Amino acid sequence: MIFPVYVYGHPVLRKVAGNIDKDYKDLQQFIADMFETMYDSDGIGLAAPQAGKSVRLFVVDTTSLKDEDPSLKDFKKVFINPLILERTGEISPFNEGCLSIPGIREDVSRESKIRISYYDRDFNFYDEWYDGIRSRIIQHEYDHLDGILFTDHLAPLKKRLLKNKLNGISKGKFDVDYKTVLPGKRGRSK
Ligand code: NI
Repeated sequence: MIFPVYVYGHPVLRKVAGNIDKDYKDLQQFIADMFETMYDSDGIGLAAPQAGKSVRLFVVDTTSLKDEDPSLKDFKKVFINPLILERTGEISPFNEGCLSIPGIREDVSRESKIRISYYDRDFNFYDEWYDGIRSRIIQHEYDHLDGILFTDHLAPLKKRLLKNKLNGISKGKFDVDYKTVLPGKRGRSK
């Protein structure tokens, strides 16, 4: 099932999401639906709050970037109850976008390297380091679980310049090919 994507201004995107355990209802189906939703909207990452579920889970798949960077072809994963334990390395800007903030892309500065613990779909535990694009995507998706959006990281002036555009998005002023949910509304079909 493809979920509609919740867009900027919806309260579910601002909640701190809760951990789940292996008895979470229909977990494997939920993960499959998360991937399906992400592919349908041409995303490379999707966090559960963007699908309206306030739980600590996100999926990533960078296969579509393999032409730019062959090492990204096998990076398809689900992260459950993740915890970023360390952020280190150079702080650099990278152009980010978000399915919940259609039409806006901005440079966001983040640390280059992270150490993260998480569970996979079978609740095996991992403690790993990531750098490069992987680290970037993980940090973006992880933020969603804490109610943080990439625009929150921008400088105050930049935020002021984007304010009208963001308000417009929350009122439906955007055009995307996937289903969305506006603040205070039920799903809409385009
Ligand atoms: Ni996002």
